[in-house]
Amino acid sequence: MRKGCSKLDAGFTIALCGLYFVEFSDEIMPIREIKSMEPVRWNDQKVEWILQNRIPWEETWKKSSSIEELARGIETLEIRGAPVIGIAAAYGIALSASNYNGNDIDEMARHIENDRGRLAKTRPTAVNLFWALDRMSKKTAELVKNSGSVDAIKKGLLAEAVAIQKENTEDSIRMGRNGKDLIQDGDVILTHCNTGPLACGGIGTSTGVILSAWEEGKDFKVIATYTAPLYQGARLTVWEFMKAGVPVTLITDNMAAYAMKNAGITKIFLGADRILMDGQVANKIGTYQLAVLANHHKIPFYVAAPMSTVDSKSSSIPIEMRKPDEVRTVLGKLQITVPDVPVLNPAFDITPPDLVSAIVTEKGIARHPYKKSLSDML
Ligand code: MRU
Repeated sequence: MRKGCSKLDAGFTIALCGLYFVEFSDEIMPIREIKSMEPVRWNDQKVEWILQNRIPWEETWKKSSSIEELARGIETLEIRGAPVIGIAAAYGIALSASNYNGNDIDEMARHIENDRGRLAKTRPTAVNLFWALDRMSKKTAELVKNSGSVDAIKKGLLAEAVAIQKENTEDSIRMGRNGKDLIQDGDVILTHCNTGPLACGGIGTSTGVILSAWEEGKDFKVIATYTAPLYQGARLTVWEFMKAGVPVTLITDNMAAYAMKNAGITKIFLGADRILMDGQVANKIGTYQLAVLANHHKIPFYVAAPMSTVDSKSSSIPIEMRKPDEVRTVLGKLQITVPDVPVLNPAFDITPPDLVSAIVTEKGIARHPYKKSLSDML
């Protein structure tokens, strides 16, 4: 327990980043007061998002009614992080419906399907994108069949997107509560990429677990990796933890083995972009090497993700390959190598289940064998 901190048993508040204001108690409560909302939100017939590629230099929001602009926002990582990509896609379908100007329900359904296709092409790895699009497609089909008016479809799809966002927030709080006892006083927790409110909505996934333990008064430290080549750890995770008052130290990705051996790392906590039923975890590039190192140093390796990240249909995971210039330059600004050098730039890697100690979800903690524990949760 941190000095001067007493254990709060109910109704405590996480005021994070000045952007998020979440209250929760023993019973899951919805966000009661949102000072500045989630990283993606609906605003006046438009989708609005904070430009994550400009943080920490600027906190700028963009508002658009264009599906193409929203899709490009996802591709360029203005909007990023698996759960938030799913929320953005859900609002994209609500936007597509809202943009339809005609009066013909079948034509409207084709218009929405066309926009769905564009959103589905943005990023292949995070399954939350497809999970959200599928849920919105089912809702569209149901509304087309039963509602009889273009207006009712518009309202119904917006309500579904809002519900997805709300459930995601509540699930993040449940995940935090389920995972917080994995963290003890004195822990030094290594995390990679960004799994906080920016990436996930609510209080985040792994970051949500860490914040929940922090709110209980536990005394620990966080170490965040750079997460090259786009620096989600250095730019976003550090920004979030510093705003929340959690002690965080930054390392470059190639310092991980040193830090495990010499900086007293006791736990690893990270997120996921897709988890297969056998427990294979796709997450930000560099995760697999951390898992191998953690295994060598006998450090528990925990993943936190909502059930919408669990893919019960696939047996393999497509890995997104991104543009070479992301590796040849620092954030497109400074060229750091010979122009045109061939580059390998996978955005994600896959960690095998035997290296994953446990998976925290909103339904509980899944452990080996994952086929059984994850299917019990589904
Ligand atoms: O490419 P990004 O920034 O969208 O990557 C996603 C991630 O933030 C991570 O892989 C994360 O650990 C899982 S999503 C909360």
